[in-house]
Amino acid sequence: MATRRHFLKKAAAFSAAGLAFPYLQADTIDQIEIAAKARSDVDPKTVARDEEFWRPIQAAFDPSPHFINLENGYFSPQPKTTLEALADNQQMVNRITSLYMRRHMTEEHTALKRLLADFAGCSPEELVITRNTTESLDTIIHGLDLKKGDEVITTHQDYGSMLEAFDQQSRRVGIVPKRISLPLHPKNDEEVVGLFEEAITPKTKLILATHLINLSGQVLPAKKICDMAHARGVEVMVDAAHSFAHLDFKISDLGCDYLGASLHKWLSAPLGTGIMYIKQEKIEKIWPLFGDKGKAKDDIRKFEHIGTSPPANYLMIANAIRFHEAIGAKRKEERLRYLKNYWAERAAKIDGVTINTPWPDHQCGALGNISIEGLTPNETARRFYDDYRIFTVAINSHEVNGVRVTPHLYTRIAELDKFVEAVGRIKN
Ligand SMILES: Cc1ncc(COP(=O)(O)O)c(C=O)c1O
Repeated sequence: MATRRHFLKKAAAFSAAGLAFPYLQADTIDQIEIAAKARSDVDPKTVARDEEFWRPIQAAFDPSPHFINLENGYFSPQPKTTLEALADNQQMVNRITSLYMRRHMTEEHTALKRLLADFAGCSPEELVITRNTTESLDTIIHGLDLKKGDEVITTHQDYGSMLEAFDQQSRRVGIVPKRISLPLHPKNDEEVVGLFEEAITPKTKLILATHLINLSGQVLPAKKICDMAHARGVEVMVDAAHSFAHLDFKISDLGCDYLGASLHKWLSAPLGTGIMYIKQEKIEKIWPLFGDKGKAKDDIRKFEHIGTSPPANYLMIANAIRFHEAIGAKRKEERLRYLKNYWAERAAKIDGVTINTPWPDHQCGALGNISIEGLTPNETARRFYDDYRIFTVAINSHEVNGVRVTPHLYTRIAELDKFVEAVGRIKN
């Protein structure tokens, strides 16, 4: 059982980052770091197939033994280390109550933001810790001074919460949200960028680009979309809910104006943790949702005025980053894609099966979408669970219809074999 004592063992690295409460469970992470170091010269694609390397990482999680969970797209379980440290943290806050909020919270929050900004690839002055992607992106959508007739380009495959926020702005101030169609298997990045470009008019103010589409698992060329849009004088908001800590990138690589991500997805941080990024020179023009007179208009902290909220969750972000970095971002990305390809390549050979996720490496990650001829997505997902105790989710949407299958770092190859067997049986 992890206790506060265990976490203190790893204090040095994080106190260097200015974090006074470094609740890190040492043993598991040490073990992963040693294994990673031994493979520092090995190509991450090769490590992705090295089952011995992934064994302690699988063991770091505690999935239910009662079903096979291939629905890790909603949110990620926390590794046991993070979960136990979270309980420890909650106990600490519960014990010292407002002494924590009044004496320690601001300092720790600032230190955590420095750590997180460094991890995310931006300045702490451009970053806000939020509860999730929805809060981050909807704050920006409602905070932008868009006027009647201003156009915003979205797609039929963007996430509902953002599309609904734009629809509300349409009803409220008369902005014009446009929804474009995207192919499931684009020929190349230029085809995707071209579709966004064609939709731009002199009235276009903003493009919403979903970096990794939750419905199909397709990765969009976010940087190329930003470059094209900026050349046309249009801003870009990136929905990185699924790409952050999944694909190996930094916010600075994309060159976007705004970005939102959920840390409870692929960073495996506690539920209710996310980030909002706003490029420095854009901060001034975005209204904070709750109003704030205490901070300058160009101070990102004007968005941090949200009332009393649970600090223990936020503190665990440091632990989650450390777990992620012990594995290595590129190794993790390659493993997740390998797991998707493992089942998808085998399932694709079965008659009547269609994979609705692109195959090229740069167009996909862990999420895959499968259709089985003659069965609706709901029937397929129901049969996987009722007949084989394999949990997936049915996707019924405008352009993507199938079952989303999402393995995680804790997924074992034998479980994917069972899934492929189930596909074959359901089909017949
Ligand atoms: C592409 C995309 N954007 C945004 C969200 C919203 O994330 P959250 O519920 O953490 O705000 C999701 C959730 O699955 C998503 O898939």
